[in-house]
Amino acid sequence: MAKIIDGKAVSQQVKDEIRAEIERDGLSIGLAVVIVGNNQASRVYVNNKKKACEVCGIKSYEYALPEETTEEQLLELVDTLNEDKNINGILVQLPLPKQINEEKIIERISPEKDVDAFHATNVGKIMIGNYAFLPCTPAGVMELIHSTGTEISGKECVVIGRSNIVGKPMAMLLLHENATVTICHSRTKDLAEVCRRADILVSAVGKADFVTADMVKDGAVVIDVGMNRNAEGKLCGDVKYDEVEPKASYITPVPGGVGPMTIAMLMKNTLMAKKLQG
Ligand code: GUN
Repeated sequence: MAKIIDGKAVSQQVKDEIRAEIERDGLSIGLAVVIVGNNQASRVYVNNKKKACEVCGIKSYEYALPEETTEEQLLELVDTLNEDKNINGILVQLPLPKQINEEKIIERISPEKDVDAFHATNVGKIMIGNYAFLPCTPAGVMELIHSTGTEISGKECVVIGRSNIVGKPMAMLLLHENATVTICHSRTKDLAEVCRRADILVSAVGKADFVTADMVKDGAVVIDVGMNRNAEGKLCGDVKYDEVEPKASYITPVPGGVGPMTIAMLMKNTLMAKKLQG
């Protein structure tokens, strides 16, 4: 029987601490939240981020642009926000419509306001291990692992997925804490065998029911970053929860696991942006 890691509770603690600091120091902090087009999932994420801002005492400024927005128009908005003294952090919700090159937009955001830590400058700093902005989802996962009291140093950690947003920075943060890290992906040979080695298994694949019980070592800590819809349209992670849960020592639910932590880390970065900008 696994213990369930309560991402909602841990994220609430983080947000409470942020709010207390903002109130104590009388800080005025602004986060620009940019959404382009009509992606339903993006709308839900953006609303949740705005709600978290309110809870923390951060002002959010939404810029909702139409689906047909050009790359040039979005670059202009980013330039304006880079210059705006009331804006400490800039978040451009991904994915963007196909006519816009995401990389070009991310690279235009001032690294000092890049609260997602997606800019190459910030990614490089994460790689080196000397960074101000946390990669939000991986940093949230680290907090959840820490909340269990599990020792990371020397452990076998397997990350499934190699995205720039989750898989790669996740591996770096585990490595910084002295884990032995393996990254698996679609070309990995005998994925189940590799996963079975993991003391800590982090799945960021984006496929419902991808992680089955035969891929999990007895007593492993299982972290599910997936955010999928199953055949009935219900929100679910990558892990086949009912069969994996009895084998794991700790497991994150979906929803209520990693998701709320990602947003709490975004709030932490926005506070950090303010401190860096003075
Ligand atoms: N789309 C999916 N996850 C994220 C995220 O963490 N930040 C942004 N900006 N877009 C996303």
